[in-house]
Amino acid sequence: MLVVLTENSKEVGCEAARIVASSLRANPKTVLGLATGSTPLGMYEELISLHKSTGLDFSQATSFNLDEYLGLAPDNPQSFHYFMHSNFFSKVNFAAPNIHIPDGAFRKDYSAYCEQFERSIKSAGGIDLQILGIGRNGHIGFNEPNSSLASRTRLKELTQETIEDNKRFFPQGAEIPECAITMGIGTILDARRILILATGKSKAAAVAKAIEGPISSSVSASALQLHPDVTFIIDEDAAYALTQRDYYRRVLELTKKYTPEKLT
Ligand code: PGA
Repeated sequence: MLVVLTENSKEVGCEAARIVASSLRANPKTVLGLATGSTPLGMYEELISLHKSTGLDFSQATSFNLDEYLGLAPDNPQSFHYFMHSNFFSKVNFAAPNIHIPDGAFRKDYSAYCEQFERSIKSAGGIDLQILGIGRNGHIGFNEPNSSLASRTRLKELTQETIEDNKRFFPQGAEIPECAITMGIGTILDARRILILATGKSKAAAVAKAIEGPISSSVSASALQLHPDVTFIIDEDAAYALTQRDYYRRVLELTKKYTPEKLT
């Protein structure tokens, strides 16, 4: 795993956007796995700015979002559909038919819907570049602790901690969804390349467990240790609890020197 330590959250967004942009320039048909939450906002802002200033082209790209709350309609301002359209898709030239976000509608058969979502990822050729955030409890997507490391897209029950963390996005007194449709850890691990972003002290413990702890379903992000091409992009606060920071800096310098293509 490559660990890119940056000074602040703005740099995390810029570095992630730089990698997404270079992937799109090399292959305009890149299939992106996208995430919501406060962490990737800086990356989206930078991508929008690259689109405006350099014409970065999304017209042939395809996207699959990680997750959506159960019971929120796409036009609900707290839904991830709304988040993606207002913070990103409406500001770049992504083709609407190429955008895939799990549908959070209540339904009788969640498995059939989730299997169909998995099939659409496969028929797009699989995810080339997956963007992730990380929860304080180590979740990626909404794969809460004890999610199977082989899990696929499914309905997942949210922990109280996640519900509390995400309350800030909802109006006071609003009912917070109890479940979500989320890609599984197995789905995420199928991506060819993974970028995971983290900022702030509140993520430091989860980041340290994910990178330096044992692989465990108690910390979903630790499953990324099984993937051959993962880059953590984290700011100083989120790196605070890592014990090998100096070594990660050295690896980064030597990567720039000998295998710079790994950083594009
Ligand atoms: P955040 O969420 O970016 O809003 O902190 C990350 C996550 O829960 O995956």
